Amino acid sequence: MILETIALTLAAIHFGVPLAYYWYAKSRWLPKPWEIRTDPKYLPKVSIIIPTYMGAKWIAQRLDNIYDQDYPRDKIEIIVIDSNSPDGTAEIAKKWIADHGDINTKLINEPVRRGKLSAVLEGLKYVSPLSEIIVFTDDDCLWSKDALRNVVKYFADPVIGAVTGSIKYLDDNGSENEYRMYYNMVRIAESKWWSTPIANGPLLAIRKCIIDKLGLPIFPGADDSAFASYIAFAGYRAIQVDDAWVYEPKVNAQLVRMIRRAIHLTNYFLKLKRYAKKQHVYKKAPFDHIWFIESFLHLANPWILATSALLLVLGATMCSLISVTFLALGIGLLIASREFRMWIKNQAILLVAHLLSFSRRKNVWRR
Ligand code: GDD
Ligand code: MN
Repeated sequence: MILETIALTLAAIHFGVPLAYYWYAKSRWLPKPWEIRTDPKYLPKVSIIIPTYMGAKWIAQRLDNIYDQDYPRDKIEIIVIDSNSPDGTAEIAKKWIADHGDINTKLINEPVRRGKLSAVLEGLKYVSPLSEIIVFTDDDCLWSKDALRNVVKYFADPVIGAVTGSIKYLDDNGSENEYRMYYNMVRIAESKWWSTPIANGPLLAIRKCIIDKLGLPIFPGADDSAFASYIAFAGYRAIQVDDAWVYEPKVNAQLVRMIRRAIHLTNYFLKLKRYAKKQHVYKKAPFDHIWFIESFLHLANPWILATSALLLVLGATMCSLISVTFLALGIGLLIASREFRMWIKNQAILLVAHLLSFSRRKNVWRR
């Protein structure tokens, strides 16, 4: 009986905490006004950094999409960093630049490929000193026409340090996007309260003077979230907004890729706060509460589920009726509910990632 009680309590914590958090975020934070002083007339100079590797298929349409943004073209600087892609990405970018003389675009060639973060850091060296906002993006996404303007307007308020867009998948029959919208909701709700710990690489804008002052943390694979949260730890707000949309090609959920991403996120949740303290940038802010709960959800909660499941299996081998009933219920839910399957899969990926992050070697993102 003790065994079953522990198992069911753990299960209640595992499912109850995120459900309560999502419910609370949706009902309490999401409806709140932003309480940010926005200014549509604030149109500073921005630098857009696009790291690209094997991006021949996308780079021209990516640049077209930026060219077509509803933002004064003479206030935009684009910096493309190619790491010697063998597919001719640089040649396509070069031709595009020659054809579009009315927008300031630089092409930087990194002779050896060292990963996205390294390319981004290289690109930063070429940013004009007149730029006020640095915008990071990927080569394979598209922004809504008003994305840049909408993201920038929040920076009129000096408390805003980082702004990220919301993501939708292209060519999706609806199911992935449904899941995506759920996350967008939570991130936007967290942002309305104060800041969110997850930022989206396809559109992340950061106030340049903060980078000049604080530098950037080096967390490959979780670089986007690490940049934004580092700034949130420094006392600024890092927000995801609901009026700047990014369209990403549908991520085919390759297991290896998902695990690699989870390993990076694990490392990020384990180390970033300590790193911010070590760098003496950390200030106490409401962000701490959000960081705490998201760290719990990413680091501890999967183990609570695993322990509960193990105890139930143990109970079942001891012919406990309660254990057998709840195990059967779990299996039934796995068969019947896509959401439940997705949830359990994500928990399993996090568990594998935790175990693998102990034996981690350096690795460059594969395309
Ligand atoms: N120059 C250069 N060199 N660019 C690179 C390299 C490299 O070695 N490796 C990747 N990139 C570029 C890609 O060309 C793309 O523009 C961007 O980095 C992201 O790479 P993708 O291959 O599109 O990866 P993803 O869609 O899985 O990445 C997403 O998640 C990452 C981790 O959170 C994006 O949101 C990334 O921005 C994010 O960092
Ligand atoms: Mn991508």
